[in-house]
Amino acid sequence: MSQEEGVLRMAVDQLVFSEVADGVATLTINRPDKLNALNTAVRLAFIAALGRLEEDPDVRVGIVTGGGTKAFAAGSDIAEFEHRTAVEQFTAFRGETIYSATAAFRKPIIAAINGFCLGGGCELALACDVRIAATTARFGQPEVNLGLIPGGGGTQRLARLVGVGQAFKLIYSGDMISAEEALRIGLVEEVVPPDELMPRARALAAAIGRKSPVTLRLIKEAIQASLETPLAEGLRLETSLFGVAFASEDKREGVRAFLEKRPPAFKGQ
Ligand code: COA
Repeated sequence: MSQEEGVLRMAVDQLVFSEVADGVATLTINRPDKLNALNTAVRLAFIAALGRLEEDPDVRVGIVTGGGTKAFAAGSDIAEFEHRTAVEQFTAFRGETIYSATAAFRKPIIAAINGFCLGGGCELALACDVRIAATTARFGQPEVNLGLIPGGGGTQRLARLVGVGQAFKLIYSGDMISAEEALRIGLVEEVVPPDELMPRARALAAAIGRKSPVTLRLIKEAIQASLETPLAEGLRLETSLFGVAFASEDKREGVRAFLEKRPPAFKGQ
């Protein structure tokens, strides 16, 4: 890496920093003075960091969270909207986005939501596989208040996760809801006190990370496909992926370990 590339990499790493421990990578969006609003630099840093984690064999599971105590991410950076043309915005959406990169991440990924989770922040959480929220988190799709609609998957992933009626209500009103309400409607899977958020997210990630990476990948592919395919096609895919799992060395190890009454040592083969 040249000196210039090194300086650039350091700047990028400050915006979105990643730590890896025990197979779990935590990606922190680090712009707390702007409530971790997603500007172009943060988006690029996030996509680059995700790419590195995807290639890192030591990383089994990812966690996404927000720096500071107030926000996961309070949405797209509204200041950037002021002078951007519709064509520029359209072009940005056509390429790889923070949302598409997160959804396409080939390993399990958990959103640990520590505060405001609005607009693009909520859409980023929706692109993750599992969402754990602090009791202090607040959720919403407030784009309607800016004369906009969600553009990072909000109209699609939110409706699939919580149902069309709740998605209409949130997106039409632009209102914020509490973590408790988000749990009730199925927007998050768990709610914990703020100081338990990262320990709980890490414990879940570590537990998932002890499973076979082969099966984790097959599970992700199968469940993601369920959102897009008719049932009969999805069931056919599941049967094929089951066959792939059945042929893996990790299946042999898992079955043998059960019969020998010992924990399995999965190798990802
Ligand atoms: N884009 C750009 N800047 C943002 C932002 C966003 N989405 N959300 C917050 N900020 C900035 C604020 O402008 C402020 O910056 P400043 O200190 O330089 O003035 C800073 O973050 C802190 O936010 P502030 O509004 O002072 O905090 P608050 O606690 O009073 O209010 C919110 C919190 C989340 C209710 C409020 O910031 C908000 O409504 N943000 C926009 C949410 C939104 O519409 N998101 C969807 C975008 S498409």
